[in-house]
Amino acid sequence: MATQRGGFSSRLGFILAAAGSAVGLGNIWKFPFEVGQGGGAAFVMMYLFFCFVLCFPVMVAEIAIGRKTQLNPVGAFKALGYKNWAIVGYLGLASGVLILSFYNVVAAWAFGYFVEMLLGHFDIGSRFGEFTADWITVGSYSIIFMLGTAYVVSRGVSSGIEKAAKILMPTLFIMIVALIIYALTLPNAMEGIKFYLVPDFSKITGNVVYSALGQAFFSLSLGMGALITYGSYVSKNDNIVSSAASITLMDVGVATLAGLLIFPIVFFQANGDQEVLGGLLKGGEGLIFESLPAVFESLGSTLGVVIGALFFLLLSFAAFTSTISLLEVPTAYVVDQHKISRSKGTWLVAVFIFLVGIPSMLSAGAVDWLSNFITLEGAGDKSFMGFVALIASDTFLPLGGFLIAVFTAYVWKKENFNMEMANGDEEIRGSWLQSYVDIAIGYICPLLLGTIFIITVLDNFMGIKILEMVLG
Ligand code: PHE
Repeated sequence: MATQRGGFSSRLGFILAAAGSAVGLGNIWKFPFEVGQGGGAAFVMMYLFFCFVLCFPVMVAEIAIGRKTQLNPVGAFKALGYKNWAIVGYLGLASGVLILSFYNVVAAWAFGYFVEMLLGHFDIGSRFGEFTADWITVGSYSIIFMLGTAYVVSRGVSSGIEKAAKILMPTLFIMIVALIIYALTLPNAMEGIKFYLVPDFSKITGNVVYSALGQAFFSLSLGMGALITYGSYVSKNDNIVSSAASITLMDVGVATLAGLLIFPIVFFQANGDQEVLGGLLKGGEGLIFESLPAVFESLGSTLGVVIGALFFLLLSFAAFTSTISLLEVPTAYVVDQHKISRSKGTWLVAVFIFLVGIPSMLSAGAVDWLSNFITLEGAGDKSFMGFVALIASDTFLPLGGFLIAVFTAYVWKKENFNMEMANGDEEIRGSWLQSYVDIAIGYICPLLLGTIFIITVLDNFMGIKILEMVLG
């Protein structure tokens, strides 16, 4: 069975592929604008806290479940003997399909911007709304992006997913470091760094806490079985705890680097004008797509093209290794559970998800009622795409994380979990790290994630802002 499914050829291959899944639009596009809206360094500290304290143990649990069963999320729960819990696997599949359906559209924007930068069209920033509303152009880019993703996934684990990660991840790292070095030479760069790194705790409100947790989960690809699936291709002799630590560090590292890149640029652009600065920082999803092209333009036509194209290529690469993992989850499901060949399975799933994504694609200006889909008062992003993100990433992922923690601690049981953890890592037995992971999975994660889930539902679907009431 294992030979038919394929597997990662090395531990490094697994770490890079999983880090590739984690590092994505979440780190480079979403993280900086959430930091901007959440008051800078205070948000960053909450985010780091959640990544290490809450998310890391869930990641270990996901990888352990995957490696133990060598199956996709649905098959994994069944194989452990708990048929009813397969519902968590189905929830994961649904999250994966929904997230990829809109993620591919944003990835298409990034890729489209790369092309626009190459053509020297710096005014694209002021035409962002026009660009996203142009469904023929965005549709073409998203077909290209989905085709590329499906091509890699159809080639299998070691010669597709792992190979792509081994090329893309180091390239991404070099690009981001090069861009940071450049950004730090810009006037006012240090002001940006200060905003980013010196915390102002008065900025921590209920909303900041809750979006930092959502961001940590989304960014680490947790709660939908992406790491159960990747874990199912890991060798029994590999150390999964230290792999999970490396993946978390890389993801957090790239998000941190993305901030070092974006904030110097933002403060350079504002040039001391507080009003402009405030507008940029509050700009949300437009922070990158609306503001950066003008900055690139100010660098002059040659340098601007190089730096601008490099930046959006970086964003596209980061998105690509994530779309690969998002497509792999439902693909592994149809391959394992329905015995369809990998290549056929991949293309079927890819076409299906592309179709599911069409309303999201049309909701960024092309079709009015889809663009103003959410009627709930106070909702930030009112588009259909925002609605899908709200359901799949903000609601399903923390719910999935909660259920995975409860399952691991109380259904599968700690002894079995610890036994799987110790495969390839004898030293973990009885260590403080193991005790910590056990306590987190058994108590901290269920409690905090359960609470957050309830708060999210009340807040987003009923308009009751509990955290705001308590924290102000
Ligand atoms: N972690 C990815 C990002 O930060 C998104 C993702 C979520 C990928 C869930 C796979 C699963 O962009």
